[in-house]
Amino acid sequence: MVLRHGAQMPQLGLGTWPMSNKEAERAIVTATEVGYRLFDTAYAYGNEEGVGRGLRACGVSREELFLTTKLNGEWHGIEGVADAWTAATKRLGVDYIDLFMIHWPLPRQDRYVDAVRGLAKLLEDGRVRAIGASNFKPAHLDRVIAESGIAPDVNQIQLSPYTTRDEARAYHAEHGIVTQSWSLLGLGRELLREPVIVEIAERHNKSAAQVVVRWHIQLGLSVVPKAANPQRMVENIDVYDFELSDEEVAALSALDRGEAFTDDSDVMGH
Ligand SMILES: NC(=O)c1ccc[n+]([C@@H]2O[C@H](COP(=O)([O-])OP(=O)(O)OC[C@H]3O[C@@H](n4cnc5c(N)ncnc54)[C@H](OP(=O)(O)O)[C@@H]3O)[C@@H](O)[C@H]2O)c1
Repeated sequence: MVLRHGAQMPQLGLGTWPMSNKEAERAIVTATEVGYRLFDTAYAYGNEEGVGRGLRACGVSREELFLTTKLNGEWHGIEGVADAWTAATKRLGVDYIDLFMIHWPLPRQDRYVDAVRGLAKLLEDGRVRAIGASNFKPAHLDRVIAESGIAPDVNQIQLSPYTTRDEARAYHAEHGIVTQSWSLLGLGRELLREPVIVEIAERHNKSAAQVVVRWHIQLGLSVVPKAANPQRMVENIDVYDFELSDEEVAALSALDRGEAFTDDSDVMGH
């Protein structure tokens, strides 16, 4: 996918929460062997060192890899974001970050607009290739765009057939922001046992998880499914040899339980 500030990002990557440093290092090496190039971590996951070690050990050149990490609320602010970048690149052992995200808007701090200004400065300096928001609602993005004139490349939000986030997706599409889904498999739990998904999976001779990943892909969303299990890792990226019909896409979307089923980023976050 080509992002609004020009970076090229793979549509599908590997999530690394809640992996330890050791697990993340191992997972990244395995994942690159089976074709993953995008990796999603965060300061809050406590595994950036392991992710960095995995990236160095995997034998794929840095330019072919796409690395996302996220900063916590204590760094919201222009200088704070620069400090967060310095600390993150040190932990990761890299000299640039592909996509640097504000993990949560934390409206109670009221400093997320300056945090976006800080990210834009890193972009200008070539220290990041793209800038991201995460868990921003359309109202938060509206304020960012109105006050700074800057729109992020990506907004990573909780999104699955249980929480289809129609309003957010429409807002992002209107403003050229890529939507990236987290907990996109519903954490691998009851969503993957939904009869309608199981039935569609049987029809295509695929797993329920593959049908869900495919649903995201066909909606034009970027995804970062987390799998520590190598077999599931392979399964989640093997989604390009089948297509859901419009009716099947709609049947998954009909599982939506609404915004109330998502973590409310007006009150939650770190
Ligand atoms: N921005 C944010 O605030 C935020 C919040 C949460 C997560 N994230 C990011 O998004 C990533 C993904 O979200 P998530 O980890 O919450 O949930 P998820 O990807 O929906 O689900 C991960 C869980 O599903 C299992 N799983 C994976 N593939 C499977 C398959 N093919 N069949 C059955 N089960 C499968 C995994 O098991 P195994 O690991 O045992 O294989 C794991 O327990 C995270 O890792 C993180 O990078 C971001």
